[in-house]
Amino acid sequence: MKGRRSNYLITGLLLALITGSVIVYTLTHLNKKEEKQTINQSNQWQAPNIETLDNSETANLIRYGRTLISNTAAYLGPKGKIAQVSNGMNCQNCHLNAGTKLFAGNFALVASSYPKYRSRSGKTESIEFRINECMERSLNGKKLDSSSREMQAMVAYLKWVGKDIKKGTHPNGTGMDELPLLNRAANAANGQIIYTGKCKICHGANGEGVPSPDSVGYNYPPVWGENSYNVSAGLYRITRLAYFVKHNMPYKIADATPLTDEEVWDVAAYVNSMKRPQKFFTYDWPDIKTKPVDYPFGPYADSFTETQHKFGPFTEIKKAREKR
Ligand code: HEC
Ligand code: HEC
Repeated sequence: MKGRRSNYLITGLLLALITGSVIVYTLTHLNKKEEKQTINQSNQWQAPNIETLDNSETANLIRYGRTLISNTAAYLGPKGKIAQVSNGMNCQNCHLNAGTKLFAGNFALVASSYPKYRSRSGKTESIEFRINECMERSLNGKKLDSSSREMQAMVAYLKWVGKDIKKGTHPNGTGMDELPLLNRAANAANGQIIYTGKCKICHGANGEGVPSPDSVGYNYPPVWGENSYNVSAGLYRITRLAYFVKHNMPYKIADATPLTDEEVWDVAAYVNSMKRPQKFFTYDWPDIKTKPVDYPFGPYADSFTETQHKFGPFTEIKKAREKR
């Protein structure tokens, strides 16, 4: 009797073990398959497909979030139908294809990396806080209430876009890298020549952009002037602007010759030398040692001038920092 019982026990245990292994095996393989769809062989990220969403309440919120990001002006611009709290630009003007395009300010890493400590604010930022940072700086506007449907929709969309990225990973083309630094200062006078030849046709002689026919937003967004991003925005740092322009401008002209790195730095110097809204935030960079090398406003923890921090050369500043 005793022997038979332990036989049953052993068979039972073995069965459980086999079933368990099969389940684990299937799960890991299913997971791998899903990963392959979003991060292909060259370690490049692909955003999930919006067409695959159903008609649930959550899906509707995600879709509304995407609409707000691609067509911000219609909802939140000076003639916005929900509120008039931004400058007429769209989030998508800088976060191309609603933040799904590689090397174009995509939102791939947001879901996995926020809440995140950032030294600009000196605190741990939520996704809502980060969105409002772009509202107040890049769109030179006002904060959205965290409980508003608009904020909740944008957050839902960003979480959905980045859902397949594993925490701590950084596939090629996500986030913002840096172009190789020049050994000289970027030259705004040379940049003006490049702007006239390669940018003016869309962004206008005065950087004012081209409004849409109903004048609710822009067909070509402004790159300076009162309706552009303000001096506290990310693009006002030359490394950010150079990275964006290098990978994305001139826009959608099939036969355009890409700009060389030197041309990119110079045109960025020109664009960021022109007038734009002066808006400052008293809480920025509470620890001045953490200011990026290209942050153009002092005081600094080093002895380089604001001009050098704005246009470079940055290699000297970096070297001095390494010594410290
Ligand atoms: C004028 C260009 C511009 C516009 C318009 C803009 N942004 Fe940004 N945004 C940036 C830049 C540049 C960065 C990266 C800044 C940095 O690296 O410090 C950024 C960063 C972000 C991030 C953090 C991304 C990350 O991976 O950490 C979020 C989220 C974001 N923007 C949301 C928005 C939303 C939502 C809007 C519209 C309400 C918007 N942005 C409009 C330029 C822009
Ligand atoms: C063929 C038209 C075209 C040309 C040429 C072009 N752009 Fe753009 N640019 C656009 C469009 C359109 C957008 C917005 C993209 C979107 O919303 O999907 C944009 C966005 C931008 C932005 C971010 C939004 C903003 O307004 O700040 C910057 C900066 C920019 N361009 C700089 C440049 C520079 C510098 C050049 C020249 C090297 C250039 N562009 C050439 C069409 C163009």
